Amino acid sequence: MPDIKHVGVLTSGGDAPGMNAALRAVVRSALDRKIRVTGILRGYWGLIEKDFQPLNSLSVGGIIGRGGTILRTVRCPEFKRARYRQQAYAHIRDAGLDALVAIGGNGSAAGAYTVHRELKLPVAVVPASIDNDVYGTDETVGFDSAVNTAVEAIDRIRDTATSHERIFVVEVMGRDNGFIAQEVGLCCGAEAVLVPEIPYDLKKICRDLQNGHKRGKRSSILVMAEGAGDSREVASRLTRHSGLRVRVSVLGYIQRGGFPTARSRWLAARLGNLAVIGLREGHTAALAAIQKGDLVHFPLAETVKKTKRIDRVAYKLAYQLSR
Ligand code: ADP
Ligand code: F6P
Repeated sequence: MPDIKHVGVLTSGGDAPGMNAALRAVVRSALDRKIRVTGILRGYWGLIEKDFQPLNSLSVGGIIGRGGTILRTVRCPEFKRARYRQQAYAHIRDAGLDALVAIGGNGSAAGAYTVHRELKLPVAVVPASIDNDVYGTDETVGFDSAVNTAVEAIDRIRDTATSHERIFVVEVMGRDNGFIAQEVGLCCGAEAVLVPEIPYDLKKICRDLQNGHKRGKRSSILVMAEGAGDSREVASRLTRHSGLRVRVSVLGYIQRGGFPTARSRWLAARLGNLAVIGLREGHTAALAAIQKGDLVHFPLAETVKKTKRIDRVAYKLAYQLSR
């Protein structure tokens, strides 16, 4: 068993609801095992700058239901450069950290794996990102919260769409993947879902929307992932092809903020705890993950190499069920 007495923890990349709950779980699981915890502020930038603060049980009190991250976060392109990483490694050594826990998405996992490879430091990653694009886990902390926020917003938009008999194109986040769009589309009864992973035929979608309106449908919602194209361009093409009224709504950052759902908090607690258990049990580079309901230590080496695929069956179901 590795003798881990002192861990550093950071939150990195885009904030996600439940990051604080994950931090709380990491800190208290570590303290329970007599492991000291140092918080690193602003993700990998805090390692470069040595922006560290000791964390105790009280430091993470009252945060389980708060969105954002009390450790704060940044995108830190500098960390991809060896020169800056060497600076960070000197700070890790100075502070006497025996391991690192990174709470974040895909990029943050890549950063943690680089630290492991180069410094031979044990690392654990708690997947936390609204995008749900981390390979090796069925779900990331924050995804459920973002989906619920978007579904609630689209239910409201549906009221206006129905009253005015309009088509709405609603753009959701997700960077270059369609996990949010696919799940939100299914949950709000969208008539069409556009994701970057699957090519779409706008003329066909338009014909389907027109047919729907002929059959008496009063509204249509097209949920579009930000990575699937330009939502305004899609809206103007739909208007051109159909002659129907089309409005655009970009949900944007409301999906990143707000309180985490119970599901996101549960996942944060389980995966934060699992990350610490994994380090103690000798997993030197693991993603704390959930797969088909089981909690597993998934090899980080695979996470950083592979791309998670969206569920095509669920994607098609959104179309089938909205006919
Ligand atoms: P997320 O973790 O939400 O996917 P990013 O893609 O912005 O967010 O990644 C977060 C941070 O992780 C980056 O700003 C950078 O500091 C670090 N990072 C990403 N990729 C690498 C890499 N290949 N090597 C080292 N650090 C990386
Ligand atoms: O990774 C989360 C996310 O919200 C993506 O869905 C989006 O593309 C990106 O972050 C936006 O990042 P930023 O706020 O840094 O521009």
